[in-house]
Amino acid sequence: MKFKLIIATTAVALVGAVVAANTQRDAILSGYAAQAGVSGFSADAGRQLFMSQNTGGKPATPSCSTCHTSDPRNVGHTRVGKVIQPMAVSRNPERFTDPAKVEKWFGRNCRSVLGRECTPTEKGNFITYMMSL
Ligand code: HEC
Repeated sequence: MKFKLIIATTAVALVGAVVAANTQRDAILSGYAAQAGVSGFSADAGRQLFMSQNTGGKPATPSCSTCHTSDPRNVGHTRVGKVIQPMAVSRNPERFTDPAKVEKWFGRNCRSVLGRECTPTEKGNFITYMMSL
């Protein structure tokens, strides 16, 4: 009886954590939509950004997929071989839930790959793609 109650409580806590994460991610997306002046984003455009091969940034990192692999459901690796947990929200529900973390890494990685900041539209498309997988 007690055991069942613990399982039920744990299940409720887990569902609660996922709901909270989804709310935080939605708030981040709404912020980018407001900045961009759009009402929605494109997973397809996000996929194109993710897969694109670029020459404007650092030669060692022509693409987001260089580190995050061509399938964001996979574990990726930094240039020095450090593991990067999957970017796809279905594999990693904590993704895109901390605004400071999201902005820090968009800043760093867009400059490395594209040689410039990503626009709010690109950021929204990217996250929308990661939510679609
Ligand atoms: C040099 C390797 C590398 C490349 C190239 C790279 N990333 Fe990343 N990315 C990382 C690392 C390392 C982290 C932080 C570790 C983590 O979150 O697991 C990260 C995290 C992120 C995050 C934070 C996600 C979160 O949990 O909030 C975003 C957003 C992101 N990357 C976007 C991009 C985009 C967009 C591109 C392409 C323009 C890109 N990355 C290319 C290595 C890379």
